[in-house]
Amino acid sequence: MRKLLIPILALAFIGITPAYAHQPVELLNTDTTAARGPLLVDGTISFAVRAAFNKPGEKKAFRAGFAQGDPLSVEYLIFDRKPENTMRAAQLPSLVITSPKGTSVTIKFSERTKFYEPYSGVNYLYLARYKAVAEAGEYSFVVTAKRKAAVTIAVGQREEPGEVLRGAKPTPTPTVAAAPTASPTPSATPSVTKVGYTMAQVRANNSASKCWSVIDGNVYDLTNWIDSHPGGPGYIQGLCGNDGSSAFSSKHGNRSGPVGQLNRYRLGPLEK
Ligand code: HEM
Repeated sequence: MRKLLIPILALAFIGITPAYAHQPVELLNTDTTAARGPLLVDGTISFAVRAAFNKPGEKKAFRAGFAQGDPLSVEYLIFDRKPENTMRAAQLPSLVITSPKGTSVTIKFSERTKFYEPYSGVNYLYLARYKAVAEAGEYSFVVTAKRKAAVTIAVGQREEPGEVLRGAKPTPTPTVAAAPTASPTPSATPSVTKVGYTMAQVRANNSASKCWSVIDGNVYDLTNWIDSHPGGPGYIQGLCGNDGSSAFSSKHGNRSGPVGQLNRYRLGPLEK
């Protein structure tokens, strides 16, 4: 496999529509290789893939599919807050993109552009933007931590709903309560299949240290939101392990602030 170190040009795209409509995808602790991680079926559709790490050496990875000649557009963003915005380039997670033919590119940080994302009220910093003409097939994206940090990898530009598939692998195993019902349903075939989260998994994550909740058919990991919730931690703790749809909608309805925050914590759909 050829390894290239390609500097990413700082592009002064001032005035261009920000990427706030990127569909959120949260990488899980089990997404340690591209094959285990989710597949963004069409990598030209805009996705915001979030990878949060606790310790050096941790890896999280995903794949994105392209047709020959498609635009490949990748952006590396961090929250404009501590610790990420105080970290040197060498301390931030690295991103290596490998093409279907096996050419690897290590993304180099080349800018520090502030970007306020109004939908969720979050300040980001762009550190790199990478554009290329895609080869046909699946690209892999591997993010490796140097220390505790969270990053967002934005892929694609087209603003339309995209499909995310997870392979026939043991999907996230709850770390709390090892009830057999809490394990995901493995697919019978080795082919890529759609999987959702089970209610048993949600119920197993019912504490402040592992807090999952269902809201309107989607599963959210609210653990990191408990202490950030402007209405206090108690309300969010009350949702851990439950279906919080009615509590959420009766308090916040469809208001963009709460819905935007919620989107940041989405894991995926609840299995039907
Ligand atoms: C995952 C679920 C939730 C999210 C993402 C969320 C998000 C937010 C956000 C962003 C705010 C700031 C004010 C705003 O933008 O409107 C807020 C305020 C607040 N939230 Fe939540 N919230 C959630 C669940 C709940 C629940 C279940 C309750 C109570 C039943 C609740 C009660 C409050 C209260 C009392 C405030 C203080 C300000 C206000 O009354 O609007 N929240 N929440």
